Amino acid sequence: MTKEALKLSGERIYLRPITMANATTEYVDWLNDAEVTKGLLATGSKATLDSVKEYIAARVDDDNTLMLAIYDGATDKHIGNIKVDNFEHGAQTCELGIMIGDKDYWGIGIGKEVILLVLDHIFNVLDMRKVLLAVYANNPGAIKLYENLGFEEEGVFKEHVRVGDDLVDKLFMSIFKHDFNR
Ligand SMILES: CC(C)(COP(=O)(O)OP(=O)(O)OC[C@H]1O[C@@H](n2cnc3c(N)ncnc32)[C@H](O)[C@@H]1OP(=O)(O)O)[C@@H](O)C(=O)NCCC(=O)NCCS
Repeated sequence: MTKEALKLSGERIYLRPITMANATTEYVDWLNDAEVTKGLLATGSKATLDSVKEYIAARVDDDNTLMLAIYDGATDKHIGNIKVDNFEHGAQTCELGIMIGDKDYWGIGIGKEVILLVLDHIFNVLDMRKVLLAVYANNPGAIKLYENLGFEEEGVFKEHVRVGDDLVDKLFMSIFKHDFNR
């Protein structure tokens, strides 16, 4: 199946490959909301419609990136994105990153539903063996979510990122196919 034809459907949400149509002012607003981005790799500059378009365009055509837009299944509203990249086909590893930009959707199990859908695809369709992610220590909610899903901490880069006035640890967490499918 081509990347463009992919659709992963859950109970409340569905995921489709991101397109240029997802570059909206709402998406720009998510990136300029410090609450949303405090746990994400900061670019340091203000997001604009052009910067979002540039970011999406670079990933749409990249064979080593699968970036999916997250939609509310009831309203078709775009509420965030999940990105899988850095596929290493020899070692069968890849990396995951998620952003639910619309804060109305936080804390109701959507992140969990999205990651479970994507892990099932990564392990059982794309036949990866291990998925890695990075998370900042100032994001306890995300860490709790990943632990709930079976991710385990592999290592830490101490005081590695600056978030405002703070230097925070960058943690690496992973999950293996055999543990996910168990
Ligand atoms: C982090 C993020 C993906 C969490 O998604 P979410 O949909 O709010 O999380 P869920 O509602 O699915 O929570 C799933 C579990 O994680 C826990 N959790 C999630 N957010 C939490 C928080 N802020 N504090 C404590 N626990 C939290 C919940 O307790 C829940 O556990 P349960 O299943 O035992 O009830 C989302 O808030 C987000 O996208 N934030 C902005 C970008 C970001 O930080 N991304 C992660 C970068 S590593």
